[in-house]
Amino acid sequence: MIEGSKVLLVDDNGEIVDILTDFLSMNGCVIYSASTGKEALEALDSTEIEIVILDIRLPDISGISLLDTIKIKNPTVGVIMITGYHDPNLIVEAMKKGASDFLIKPFEFDKLIFVMMRVIRERKLLIEKQNILESLEDKKKIELLNRELQKKIQELTTMYHISNRFNSLNVLDDVYEKMIRIINEILDATSCYYIVDTEKNELMLYKELSVGNGDFNPKRLAISNGLLEEAFSPRRYHIEGDKAFLPLLIKGEYIGFVAVTGKGLKGTNKGSFSDSDLFFLKLITEKASTQIENRMLYESLFEGVLHTLTSLILAINRRDSYTEDHCKRVTQMSLALSERLGLNGYEKDVLRVVGPIHDVGKVGIPDAILLKPASLTNEEYAIIKAHSLYGEDIMNKFEILSNEARIIRHHHERFDGAGYPDGLSGEDIPSCSRIIAVCDTYDAMATNRPYRNALTRQEVMAEIMRCKGGQLDPALTDCFVEMINDDGEWDG
Ligand SMILES: [Fe+2]
Repeated sequence: MIEGSKVLLVDDNGEIVDILTDFLSMNGCVIYSASTGKEALEALDSTEIEIVILDIRLPDISGISLLDTIKIKNPTVGVIMITGYHDPNLIVEAMKKGASDFLIKPFEFDKLIFVMMRVIRERKLLIEKQNILESLEDKKKIELLNRELQKKIQELTTMYHISNRFNSLNVLDDVYEKMIRIINEILDATSCYYIVDTEKNELMLYKELSVGNGDFNPKRLAISNGLLEEAFSPRRYHIEGDKAFLPLLIKGEYIGFVAVTGKGLKGTNKGSFSDSDLFFLKLITEKASTQIENRMLYESLFEGVLHTLTSLILAINRRDSYTEDHCKRVTQMSLALSERLGLNGYEKDVLRVVGPIHDVGKVGIPDAILLKPASLTNEEYAIIKAHSLYGEDIMNKFEILSNEARIIRHHHERFDGAGYPDGLSGEDIPSCSRIIAVCDTYDAMATNRPYRNALTRQEVMAEIMRCKGGQLDPALTDCFVEMINDDGEWDG
């Protein structure tokens, strides 16, 4: 059972070392020897010793000190102390420091074998215990890493969710309302948005979601010094009572504050908000600020573009007063029809822009053709038809009006596919183009032209019904006819 054990004999008495070497070698042990503490430590450093048989008296260091060093280096090494005299205090001290046993010289070899066998068993148990502890420690570390990883994944997922929600906003969405909804979802808290009344130095409630349990947000709040100081500090939040206030900043100026009501704890530096809560709140307010800034930029660009287009329209109108009035009426009818059809605000906005300028391409048609007080030849008609393409070209010069450009291109398509310029049919024609087509057709017939007088209302309605399903979208035509019959105010 002790065969193969690596044993270090440490004794300055060469005879004892020789005897023990012979005896233990015969029993299959691998023997190393040292006559001083220094040699013993060198042997322990260079070889994986399992048992040390250690004399308590050495020339350079006491056996007890060496025992201590050995046990600190490797607690699984079994140390059997040997001594020439019996000293109970020494024995107790050695045992306290981890000696496996204590043999008094001269000792019987059988007893040594017996003690060694026990030491080997104990050592095995000790190693097993250490392995178990290490694997438990590893398991704990893995669990900790897993938890951190899960937290990171959760954090990234939430960040992605927040970015996604803001990126998917369309021009009609209310950024403030979305921001409040996202905060309420992510933090499971309630929030609202305040704008600033600088005259009264107060916050005024601007947007909140209805809450059913009697919670309410104050309509007005005094602005504290802390709020403004911390809004501009790198910390970018301010806690008052159970609320966290975060500014929406645009170009370094605040435009308002989000107030988030936490739960429970009050009066601490972070209120009841964790670092993670505050991190997400800052991310949400940053995203909302960017959205609002982009919209402000878009609107100012849009205003500029519309101003330019209006100048173009004025130039056309100076040539052709019919076009001016015609475009006005087509816009009004298109908006009334879109209202009746229940279209969304975005489509109405598009019609509001496109209606007055749907014939902007006529700027490219020579006066001799545009203002001709007689029927057009086929060649002249072909030139007139190009106005929808010219109109698209003009609109495409403004990147932000690409949708409007498409609607202008197709405002002379026919529902049956026989229109121009692309021969699109049915719902392939943009809905706003189909609306303009109905109103355009009606108005062209209902008003006096240079080469003919207006048709009577009865004649116009008959003609419109005749065009239903061919030139004009049948559902839109029905709705339009209904509108004319109800309102009767579009006669030129
Ligand atoms: Fe036109």
